[in-house]
Amino acid sequence: MRKKLVVANWKMNNTQDEATRLVSSIVSQINGLTINNVEVVISPSYVYLKEIVELTKNDEHISVAAQNCSEHLKGAYTGEVSSQMLSSIGVKYLIVGHSERRTYQKESNSLLKQKVDVALSNNLIPIYCCGERLEERNAETHYSVVENQLNEGLFHLPMDAISKLVIAYEPVWAIGTGVTATAAQAQEMHQFIRSVISKKYNPTIANTISILYGGSCNAANASELFACKDVDGGLVGGVSLIANDFVKIVESAISN
Ligand code: PGA
Repeated sequence: MRKKLVVANWKMNNTQDEATRLVSSIVSQINGLTINNVEVVISPSYVYLKEIVELTKNDEHISVAAQNCSEHLKGAYTGEVSSQMLSSIGVKYLIVGHSERRTYQKESNSLLKQKVDVALSNNLIPIYCCGERLEERNAETHYSVVENQLNEGLFHLPMDAISKLVIAYEPVWAIGTGVTATAAQAQEMHQFIRSVISKKYNPTIANTISILYGGSCNAANASELFACKDVDGGLVGGVSLIANDFVKIVESAISN
């Protein structure tokens, strides 16, 4: 059975006090739930990672992700953070290729490929983001755009490495806009992603990889999205800053 993940992508939000309060509220509410096959992942800014690893370390259902890392292993890269540093403080996952970084930092698939490699070489699990822009969906190139993102960023990996990964499908037009992909749109793209992996590798690997949906996921729509056969949880931005609503999304993952 594939693992379900619900990832809180805090992006560049929260002061120290807000971060501590938010994570404490999430941890105490999650502690009261019966969680079997769901992992909750908190992804704060670098500044709070170490503290949040500490605050969540006693809960086996909660892990921590970084939002980015350098493509280099180490060395003279002022201002950068390496995957080895993240791993050494207990970070488990790494978000790679979020559309905001693809857009604002001009991160290309070939750069993301390097980040995937340094992450895996330091035992971080990449959560590789893909997704089309509105104009690409309108031009009906969304399938080829996503396939290309997978091809260039991930498909150099050997079988044992690709099967460790998590993929997040995040249509750019749904991120932070309040417009969610319909369950049917999410399901058809998730199924497509699985079929592309199956062709490149094999059906067993395709069935092992968790594929998350992201883009205006909230307490009201999560259940319908997570009920889709190929949707294995969510990557949640805005709503992950509200503890009660985020926990409702986790509950939807548990019950689906
Ligand atoms: P959103 O962000 O939930 O605010 O749309 C999702 C994401 O960017 O990961």
